[in-house]
Amino acid sequence: MKIFLDTANLASIKMYNDMGLVDGITTNPSLLAKEGGDPQKTMEEIVRTVKGDVSLEVVSTETLGMIDEGRRLQKYGKNVVVKCPLTAEGLKACKILTSEGIPVNVTLCFSVNQAILSAKAGAKYVSPFIGRLDDNGQDGIHLIREIHEVFQNYKFSTQILVASVRHPMHVVEAAKIGADVVTLPPDVLGKMLKHPLTDIGLKNFLADWEKLKKENPNIRI
Ligand code: G3P
Repeated sequence: MKIFLDTANLASIKMYNDMGLVDGITTNPSLLAKEGGDPQKTMEEIVRTVKGDVSLEVVSTETLGMIDEGRRLQKYGKNVVVKCPLTAEGLKACKILTSEGIPVNVTLCFSVNQAILSAKAGAKYVSPFIGRLDDNGQDGIHLIREIHEVFQNYKFSTQILVASVRHPMHVVEAAKIGADVVTLPPDVLGKMLKHPLTDIGLKNFLADWEKLKKENPNIRI
């Protein structure tokens, strides 16, 4: 399973990228607005920082506008994936951009049928938003299970990119199903890393080492 960061925060991207944990990035206009500043510069910097796929989203709602924006976004770097919304216009843009060799992530997916259509339009990724489904009283993880089953049935090459992840259990469940990618807010990745027993265990190891040092003042590792 690949781990992407769902953020436009450069400090978080650099920190987790330096740890070798970041396979790619997803952004959207809301995430860029949260960081403020010049969104173009931020997107360029993200594309330069991360080797893997970086999803940058179009804001046009018409096919021709999306294609135009997608072509421009692709010039930011070879690792750019153009994010198009799951609308009729967006799927048409997906088909055309894909035929030009520009990979597309179809975003705002909330149903199996929408995921099937994204695959038919040639998307490299489809992004089901599981947290927003949960917020709406539906089961986001169940949607991932269903999409995964259907994609396996037909050997679709479109990758399932689990988005709108709210907590580490979403990650565990997505991994058990076999989702291709999870895109995580940095705080969720931070929570995956931490465990109180790790902190307690390390504290005890270090305390015991200090005891040994008292008996053997010159020891070092
Ligand atoms: O890529 C954006 C998607 O992950 C949305 O997340 O938290 O705004 O539902 P959220």
